[in-house]
Amino acid sequence: MKTVSIDVRRAEPTDARAISLAHRLSWQHTYGGLIPHKALTQMLERRGEDWWRKATRGPATLLVADVAGTVAGYATLGLNRARALPQEGEIYELYLRPEYQGIGLGRLLFGECRRLLKSLGCNGLVVWCLEDSEQAERFFRHQGGVDIAEGMEDFGDRSLRKIGYVWA
Ligand SMILES: CC(C)(COP(=O)(O)OP(=O)(O)OC[C@H]1O[C@@H](n2cnc3c(N)ncnc32)[C@H](O)[C@@H]1OP(=O)(O)O)[C@@H](O)C(=O)NCCC(=O)NCCS
Repeated sequence: MKTVSIDVRRAEPTDARAISLAHRLSWQHTYGGLIPHKALTQMLERRGEDWWRKATRGPATLLVADVAGTVAGYATLGLNRARALPQEGEIYELYLRPEYQGIGLGRLLFGECRRLLKSLGCNGLVVWCLEDSEQAERFFRHQGGVDIAEGMEDFGDRSLRKIGYVWA
């Protein structure tokens, strides 16, 4: 029987290319048809390998889900950016490659983000996701998040509603 190793760990500069691929594949899959094509392409082009290499050096903490040496997804976290909300921590992004979704890795990555924020002394956390992103919405509810905030974000000529989920 083969054992597959699954590890959630801090990203290293050498992970940059693999994270950039995971980012592109996940965002195309999640936002294609939701965010206008031109805006999405620009967002993806801005974040190449070099961008991710710099991201491994902060200021946000960058974690990867490593499945047998492949970066299956990533998460970024740090201090909450929305001053109107009392929660001190924030998960900025949580994305898995499409073929690695639905097998428990999101829960693993999310759990590690929560633990890390708590160990850094953060009281509560918030995650924002687009209202039309049903998969994310169901996932965050399932993890116990409560939708208490909303806002708008512009993507090219389209404005999309986003929902803020919080954990006490
Ligand atoms: C959202 C996402 C991170 C969830 O990760 P995942 O690995 O697919 O989810 P998991 O397999 O860990 O599921 C965890 C739990 O949530 C439930 N769940 C996950 N997706 C669900 C869905 N679409 N509908 C209902 N339940 C869902 C699972 O049943 C599981 O339940 P359990 O804890 O009782 O076993 C992942 O699907 C993803 O990367 N999606 C695209 C990107 C995205 O939308 N990111 C969020 C924006 S920040």
